[in-house]
Amino acid sequence: MRRAHAGLETPEYYVPGLPADYVAQRYGIPLADIAKLGSAENPHGASPLATEAVREYLDALHLYPSWTADPLREEIAVTYGFDPSEVICGAGETEILSLITRAFCPPGDKIQMPGPCFPIYHLFAEAEGRIPVLVHSATNRQSMALDVDAYLEAIEPNTRIVYITNPHSPSGTWLEEAEVRRIIEASADALVVLDEAYVHYSETSGYIHLAHEYENLAVLRTFSKAYGLAGLRIGFGVASQPIIDTLMAVKPTWNMGQLQIVGGVAALADHEHVARTVRTIAENRDYVQGRFEELDRFRMVRGSRSNFFLVEILDLDTDSTKVFEGLLERGVVVKDGSVSFRGLDDRFLRCDVNLQMHMDRLVDALSDLP
Ligand SMILES: Cc1ncc(COP(=O)(O)O)c(C=O)c1O
Repeated sequence: MRRAHAGLETPEYYVPGLPADYVAQRYGIPLADIAKLGSAENPHGASPLATEAVREYLDALHLYPSWTADPLREEIAVTYGFDPSEVICGAGETEILSLITRAFCPPGDKIQMPGPCFPIYHLFAEAEGRIPVLVHSATNRQSMALDVDAYLEAIEPNTRIVYITNPHSPSGTWLEEAEVRRIIEASADALVVLDEAYVHYSETSGYIHLAHEYENLAVLRTFSKAYGLAGLRIGFGVASQPIIDTLMAVKPTWNMGQLQIVGGVAALADHEHVARTVRTIAENRDYVQGRFEELDRFRMVRGSRSNFFLVEILDLDTDSTKVFEGLLERGVVVKDGSVSFRGLDDRFLRCDVNLQMHMDRLVDALSDLP
């Protein structure tokens, strides 16, 4: 038998949120009645400007794209005040996370992340023999906020990458700039990766500007969330040029197709779609928080600045898998904490913020559970 790279012999894969058509078919529920609250997608769909740009490009698919996605790279650079040489584009942030893992951590060394976190961080680490270190903030179970002191203490000489997710997933909690700076400054020998996938929902401009100041920082963003382009696969990173040059060396040459490039350029100008999406999320985050007051067996973990929140199951006679299954039978898809997030136990679910109708379906289904 051919031997795989060590670590790839018993691989563990990412567990995505279930698709709506699968749930509709399995439980015999009309597709229109499904509340899909497990993938943090955009309730208003794709950016209309991006959709139009993609359509217009369909007759030029025989042409190779720029291998560095230059039109998009340049537009991102202008938008955020960087030089194009300080920007890298990828098939979603996920591709850039993979490049960073390979380029900045030799096998055997450590990659630090909050526990729980976006699973791709530890899955990519483990696949080729890096050691993921999940730092749990057990003292803060009520708010699920990151314990920054404990996080700093965990950094070791062979920690090569230190992740910060802001807003965090799965909790939606927010770190202030001074705390982010503290982590970057304490990680001088590591590359700090600040993942701002959900930054629009914080209603701030985030901390992308810090990439001008710190040579050990990469800031990552995605078009999958506020721009609604999860299916097109566009993400980017900004960092000092030596970091970007290194990532370019491990990047698959034509990683971005023409449609991603033109779609991304158009989306960046679609301020109306982003604003409408952010408004919907902010309004319905407040709305669902109000509705959770009706429930006594479930607690919404407060303070999310994102388009999802954690639900704690207070009823000790049930657990996250039973609640997850019960919600599925009622046409509501969420994430089962114990399955989807390492370091989150069977007391938690992650639920998206979406249209009011779906928030009602979620709360009604939770109250209907036996
Ligand atoms: C925290 C976080 N980072 C990054 C991503 C990846 O986004 P994408 O690869 O779609 O750009 C996700 C996706 O859900 C996420 O939750």
